Amino acid sequence: MTITFVGHGYVGLVTACIFADFGNKVWVIGHTKEKIERLKKADPIIYEPGLKELLEKNLRANRILFTLDYNKAIPESDIVFIAVGTPPKEDGDADLSSLFEVTKKIGQHLKKGKTVVSCKSTVPVGTNKKIEIILRESKPKSAQAQVASCPEFLREGSAIYDTLNPDRVVIGSDSKTAIATLIELHQPIDGKRVITDLASAEIIKYTSNAMLATKISFANLIAFYCEKSGADVENVLDAVGMDKRIGRVFMDPGVGYGGSCLPKDVKALIKIGQTLQIDPAFLIAVENINQQIREGFLHKILTNAKEKHITIWGLSFKPNTDDIRDAPSSYIIARLLGKKFTISVYDPAGRENTKKLFGNALTYHNNPYTAVRNASALVILTEWNEFKQADLKKVKTLMKKPLIFDGRNIFHPEMVKKLGFQYFSVGRKPV
Ligand code: UGA
Repeated sequence: MTITFVGHGYVGLVTACIFADFGNKVWVIGHTKEKIERLKKADPIIYEPGLKELLEKNLRANRILFTLDYNKAIPESDIVFIAVGTPPKEDGDADLSSLFEVTKKIGQHLKKGKTVVSCKSTVPVGTNKKIEIILRESKPKSAQAQVASCPEFLREGSAIYDTLNPDRVVIGSDSKTAIATLIELHQPIDGKRVITDLASAEIIKYTSNAMLATKISFANLIAFYCEKSGADVENVLDAVGMDKRIGRVFMDPGVGYGGSCLPKDVKALIKIGQTLQIDPAFLIAVENINQQIREGFLHKILTNAKEKHITIWGLSFKPNTDDIRDAPSSYIIARLLGKKFTISVYDPAGRENTKKLFGNALTYHNNPYTAVRNASALVILTEWNEFKQADLKKVKTLMKKPLIFDGRNIFHPEMVKKLGFQYFSVGRKPV
């Protein structure tokens, strides 16, 4: 098949490379010349494990092509995927302006005959119906657009694996042809198939992300209970999670959920609820706990770090990505700078993006050990693997004070205590 992706972020670029790798001809349309030139040279722009290699391979085979020109890609495509961002507006509502803009351009360039237009962007319920109207109004008379919603469930940091091994592939459409075409396209990919209508596909996406956020906030709420009562949240959640009806996955307490998806999608679902005159108090609580857990962690630092030169390990919103959008680190760093802390930072991938945000206000290191030199406290905000078995004896000799604030519970309290550290984590007794 010939496929076009409009948008080359985590969803657009990763999925485009995978469908190209299956032997399809894939166009990717962007709107910035500089970025399209970088992509043509196998620079994926974003950091995602394995993506550069996959891009290189498919560029060499001429199966993936990048352009700014809709006229090159759309007329020859059997399927067009919309994969542009839907960032939050001030009021939490999803900003659909670029989505509608590209939809119109797609419509104007549709060829004679049938094309499936499938939306991968996360959009409020009812949006795909609007896409249908825009396409109908903008397309040439001889063209036919069949709209589908095909939401994406990949995670940053494991995007290629997730796309190849999804738990489910959701296809929502009123068109039998669109459903059949998308089933055929996804044939090499494992996972259950869910065939449904447009509105259900749209709500499935938000519900999934809101449920994940709910699990995290619930774990964090229980962490507060444990801190106040002297219980150990990890033991509590391990035991609770052994009940197969509940499970332990995605219930890791810490400094809360960040990134470009969970925070935005909880906000958007709150807004959708309000529009539909449904009380979204439950989701507002999920959001509030996410804020309280960051504040609670910050409070531990502010009340227990007597000196103000600290080191932060972990800047990205989760491991294996350089993405710092809505990362707990950005929030915590801004608050600590406001309290006149001097901060050294180390992250295996998130340094350049953090520099764009904080510039010279921080001292950046290429190595976790040089970063802790003379620090009066070490703060851990992302659970990168390389921190989990770091040489803490060496860390202790380098630091001015043996004090750790662990926002991801990566160490066992007794082990760190034995090494002579004072140790604060989340939902467990300080030692
Ligand atoms: C999330 C969803 O997991 C994907 O299924 C979805 O496709 C994607 O959003 C999207 O809508 O595009 P992502 O934001 O990449 O993926 O990352 P997650 O693995 O969900 O992590 C989100 C945040 O939750 C991170 O800050 C992570 O540290 C935090 N988290 C995760 C916890 O605090 N505790 C946990 O137990 C799990």
